[in-house]
Amino acid sequence: MNFKKELAEVIAQAAGIAPEECAAYIEVPPQKEMGDFAFPCFKLAKVLHKAPPVIAKELKETLPLPAFVSDCCVQGGYLNFFIDPSRRAEAVLREIDSMGEAYGSSDAGCGKTVCMDYSSINIAKRCHIGHLTTTVLGNSLAKIYRFLGYKVVSINHLGDWGTQFGKLLCAFHHWGDKAAIEEKGVNALIELYVRFEKEADDAMQEEARVWFKKIEDDDPEALELFSWFKDITLKDVARIYDMLDVHFDSYAGESFYKDKCGAVIEELREKKLLEFSEGAYVVKLDAFDMPPCILLKSDGASIYATRDMAAAFYRKKTYDFDKCLYIVAYQQNLHFKQVFKVIELMGYPWAKDLVHVPFGMVSFEGETLSTRKGHVVYLDEVLDRACEKALDIINEKNPELPDKQKVARQVGIGAVIFYDLFSSRIKDVDFWWDRALNFEGETGPYVQYAHTRCCSVIAKAPVCEVEKADFSVLEDEASKELIAKLEAFPSIVAEAAEKYEPSVITRYSAALAQCYNKFYFENRILSETEPVLQARLLVTKCTRDVLKTALGLLGIAAPQKM
Ligand code: ARG
Repeated sequence: MNFKKELAEVIAQAAGIAPEECAAYIEVPPQKEMGDFAFPCFKLAKVLHKAPPVIAKELKETLPLPAFVSDCCVQGGYLNFFIDPSRRAEAVLREIDSMGEAYGSSDAGCGKTVCMDYSSINIAKRCHIGHLTTTVLGNSLAKIYRFLGYKVVSINHLGDWGTQFGKLLCAFHHWGDKAAIEEKGVNALIELYVRFEKEADDAMQEEARVWFKKIEDDDPEALELFSWFKDITLKDVARIYDMLDVHFDSYAGESFYKDKCGAVIEELREKKLLEFSEGAYVVKLDAFDMPPCILLKSDGASIYATRDMAAAFYRKKTYDFDKCLYIVAYQQNLHFKQVFKVIELMGYPWAKDLVHVPFGMVSFEGETLSTRKGHVVYLDEVLDRACEKALDIINEKNPELPDKQKVARQVGIGAVIFYDLFSSRIKDVDFWWDRALNFEGETGPYVQYAHTRCCSVIAKAPVCEVEKADFSVLEDEASKELIAKLEAFPSIVAEAAEKYEPSVITRYSAALAQCYNKFYFENRILSETEPVLQARLLVTKCTRDVLKTALGLLGIAAPQKM
């Protein structure tokens, strides 16, 4: 069905150039009135020694036009082609029909591995709204890359290292209550930590240091407690991951690299990159307009950057990645620039495959998140509230809906994810309930609703039979627009992957839903004669599949009814 490719072959033959070269020249005109494809004849001016408009005219006269071209005209130095709309519709719909929900996938990434570091929560802390973006953005990118044939290794680089864990162990030792922690989860750990910060005297501070040293030295008692704290935190967050349907291949966090930092430091020393400066060991990066990358405190303790270095080496060795993505807020821009630079300076060419994928901040109904001022919005509360609100809406709009709780979850969570992934990722997001949950406009529920509309048309219709469809009825504007949208889906997915930008798919899905709604209101489906019905039913079925796939790539469910 590749019109462009076939067109390129015909033109190439006539012009005496290679088909691949010709295909690379063919453009899509900026306005659809100008045609579906345009061939820039100035590309041939050098070989043919003629002016582009002359070439265009001659080509038009001599070219054996393929049957799918309905018209062809000269516009300046371009030869423009119009594809016969019903042929185009037929080709697009047949392809989607044969591929179903796999339409848009490819094997472009076959044999390649991408590591993705996302969500990366901190132990003994509660997930707040700030963790939403990294989690859903990473999850979506993982799905998109898998869809394109890549092997994805999803990694939750846990924040489970630092002197604060010594304090926590010390606090637990003094005031801890196992049963209360089992019951209250992370909140109880936070209380302990806060109490320590308030009440600990010098003696306790010293004790905390000793506890941390014990963790460092693999003391069994300390390790057991520490890994229990980890379990408590992960158990809490499991509920969130479950709601978002997010999974990880690895939970190797910072503590996993504690015995792998030494080798990095050793190598930096050998390569004469490490210097002692202002009380710490650093790699100077003045030449690259960056402050020094601090890697070792004077007491020999590693820091965040050291562990990220060790993690990069470990991932390269273990997964042999083609790319390693870090889906982390833009506040850490400098950190990643420094770490990647140091690895490059160590002489590793794969430093260029380390990619920081930054994103903006989330604020809530106009208020920026601030732990200090107490405006903390916890992620589980947001998700719970989204589900409740969705349930309210369903109770109002469609109280008889079967499986209401489940659908409410899909709609509520979907609304939050969609809202977060709608703008390009670097933009700050201000979250408003009524906007996210609106059934009109560019929202998750709106797209999900269009999907249910397709489902209900299909449920009422006879079996879809492509061979009975009359494609010539798909020539009205609404049908043509919808088909053009469906046709664009594979390139949309590719663009989202290339830019690490699921928002390309989010926006697309809203536009596709809109196109379908227009098609639906302007065309009768079920009451038509068989050939017309079959054509429009096929459009509906293809739209349903693409909507479902698009939502799926964002990590959003597509209920059949809502
Ligand atoms: N735990 C860190 C935080 O919450 C994010 C870690 C990101 N990943 C990494 N490899 N540094 O800020």
